[in-house]
Amino acid sequence: MISLSDLRQFKQDGRKFSCLTCYDASMAKAMELAEVDTILIGDSLGMAIQGRDSTLPVTVEDMAYHTAAVRRGNQHALIMTDLPFMSYATLNDALVNAKTVMQAGAQMVKVEGGAWLNETVEVLTRNGIPVCVHLGLTPQSVHVLGGYKLQARSREAADKLLADCQAVVDAGAAVLLLECVPAQLGQEVTARFPHIPVIGIGAGVETDGQVLVVQDMLGLTFGRVAKFVRNFMKEQAGETAILDAFKAYHAAVLDQSFPAKEHTFQVEL
Ligand code: KIV
Repeated sequence: MISLSDLRQFKQDGRKFSCLTCYDASMAKAMELAEVDTILIGDSLGMAIQGRDSTLPVTVEDMAYHTAAVRRGNQHALIMTDLPFMSYATLNDALVNAKTVMQAGAQMVKVEGGAWLNETVEVLTRNGIPVCVHLGLTPQSVHVLGGYKLQARSREAADKLLADCQAVVDAGAAVLLLECVPAQLGQEVTARFPHIPVIGIGAGVETDGQVLVVQDMLGLTFGRVAKFVRNFMKEQAGETAILDAFKAYHAAVLDQSFPAKEHTFQVEL
């Protein structure tokens, strides 16, 4: 099973690592077979699984439920779980809720923010819980940010984000995750912290790891898709492979070509 030390070693060796979001056991098993290095049980499950408009309604219980399912399906990847909206607003909440997701099978928790999380990062780390800090576009603050858009567009804003990274690293953050920032900033953060693995999503190619939401990379996100998403399903099997399978099934049921003899128990009664 991949550990935090492995991620650090990958960085030392210049070996990039992969991360995908995952929410269930069968997809987790497929990721194990594909040797994906890291899995994020993201609170993006609010949108991807629950059909909500944002990550805000997701609960700690949701995160623990999906973490346990993923862990049962995958014994290979390092598993990181989001602490959802307002579940780490106090130190006590952070400890209690991190305990819940760690006991469900996570090896690390992820929180969204910057320097103001220093105490939280310190206390969690002191209690044996590795912390990944998510900076840049932080979806739990979508109403403060005014939408899902590129962050740190100026030198001044980039320097502020670098200072936030430094603060949380000094507080003990084990991993940084940067979302939707200029590639140059992704490169600067990655170079500045030689011992801290940096994961990017829309942060350029220089970060140590990359993460995508699994529905996005399988072409199962309908509506607006972010610029940083690549549809890998389209390249492997055609743009609408999963959709086409659903359509073919529907048609086969209607025209009775399914179930065929080989799918049928032929017993003379
Ligand atoms: O919740 C999530 O899936 C995330 C990724 C977008 C990084 O935080």
